[in-house]
Amino acid sequence: MRFPDTFLIGGSVAANQYEGGCREGGRHLSTWDVFKFDPNVKGGQFTISYDDMLKASFDTNDDLYPKRRGTDFYHRYKEDIALFAKMGFKVFRMSISWPRIFPTGEEDIPNQDGLNFYRSIFEELHKYNIEPLVTISHFDMPLDLSIKYNGWENHKLIDLYIKYASCLFDNFHDLVKYWITFNEIDATIHIPFVGAGINPEKCENLKQSLWQGLHHQFVAGARAIKYAHETYPDLKIGCMSTKNLKYAKTCKPEDNIQTIMETMEDASYTDVQAFGEYPYVLINKWKKEGIHIKMNEDEMIDLKQNVVDFISFSYYASLVTSADKDPNALASANLLVGEKNPYLKQTEWGWQIDPVGLRYSLNQLYDRYKRPLFVAENGLGYNDIFENNTVHDTYRIEFIREHLKQVMIAINEDGVDCFGYTYWGCIDCVAGSTSQMKKRYGFIYVDQDDFGNGTKNRFPKDSFYWFKKVIASNGNDLD
Ligand code: BG6
Repeated sequence: MRFPDTFLIGGSVAANQYEGGCREGGRHLSTWDVFKFDPNVKGGQFTISYDDMLKASFDTNDDLYPKRRGTDFYHRYKEDIALFAKMGFKVFRMSISWPRIFPTGEEDIPNQDGLNFYRSIFEELHKYNIEPLVTISHFDMPLDLSIKYNGWENHKLIDLYIKYASCLFDNFHDLVKYWITFNEIDATIHIPFVGAGINPEKCENLKQSLWQGLHHQFVAGARAIKYAHETYPDLKIGCMSTKNLKYAKTCKPEDNIQTIMETMEDASYTDVQAFGEYPYVLINKWKKEGIHIKMNEDEMIDLKQNVVDFISFSYYASLVTSADKDPNALASANLLVGEKNPYLKQTEWGWQIDPVGLRYSLNQLYDRYKRPLFVAENGLGYNDIFENNTVHDTYRIEFIREHLKQVMIAINEDGVDCFGYTYWGCIDCVAGSTSQMKKRYGFIYVDQDDFGNGTKNRFPKDSFYWFKKVIASNGNDLD
């Protein structure tokens, strides 16, 4: 078995986790720049008090904040892209740092240094025939927009986002064909500050504010799509959500109805962007919970008329759910927590490894949306042992091999239209949830520890050479 000839295979990262250069070239801080490294962190650092956020915004001791330093792609992008090219990447998914283009989010004119920086990255990628896939907003809005407006809770963000997105389309439509409007848009509900710059302390009615913030993002995304489609018809714009695959704990009908209800709610984020309207599960949920979303007719028309060209998602792990949840048998899968699956192994961070679940997800999504799919994130975080300038990461090879096999089965045997796969954290970067360096995903080791010590030099791991072979054989050689 192999992938189709046009299959886009490569790697993925996000600006705040690898770029660094947090104050260079006119950039201001973003929401993700306020988290200090905490060696005792468990699960994830997703919340911060409003006062601590303000203090962090004035703190110039950048060494304390891992996401401010990333892994120095800002200065080393040519070296990194050359390494991706050596592996044969056909695609590189990256994000643009919003405050590098509009430092406070409210300037009338974009920051030319920021635009130049990304133009040279895209040109460098094209030099090696690597297709850029760009996420417009990956958890890092200008911090000022969170402080001043409480992020996406405020309707003003719609126009500010459209100004930003249309500026990117105008400047890069000749170099970037594939775009994603928001990374894991569902994060707004699960981790509001990281996902949408919404500080819960500042909300009168938290649930109401979160869904309102999400509505603003849906409208902003649809209007960005409208602008792109009308102005540059060749561009392809997708949405991106966390694929929270859930299995019923037993065949008991109550466990299965619970699973299907949760599955439909998890799907609702993509539903709105794919079908242009709110699904009944959400409308009913809001009714039951007394949530009233302000939305006007123009917004609903824009949502309906401007749906996405493709559906992308992150898939790391699956969960189990049931009608009577067992609070003691917990396992994680990225943003959510569920019950343990006795048939699956877990990573050191408690994420359940489930390659077959990726085939299941691809089929579920294709059946529901009948639109091209893209696996935007999938990967294994591991505390690698670095010896003699390399890492023997057979566990990572095994993880990717098993997941790629399932993608191939979904395409070749099940008939799913999936046009690409980008392995998450293709070069070691700062972990999104924990800000650790030791939770490494990469094919390329970066010599930097949790506290920022190290040369930041890059070293290929065993998986680097293995992935190169996989790409060269278009998936036929997975040994
Ligand atoms: C996804 C995010 O949720 O998971 C990434 O889009 C993140 O930003 C990735 O890095 C893996 O999570 P973590 O916490 O292991 O880095």
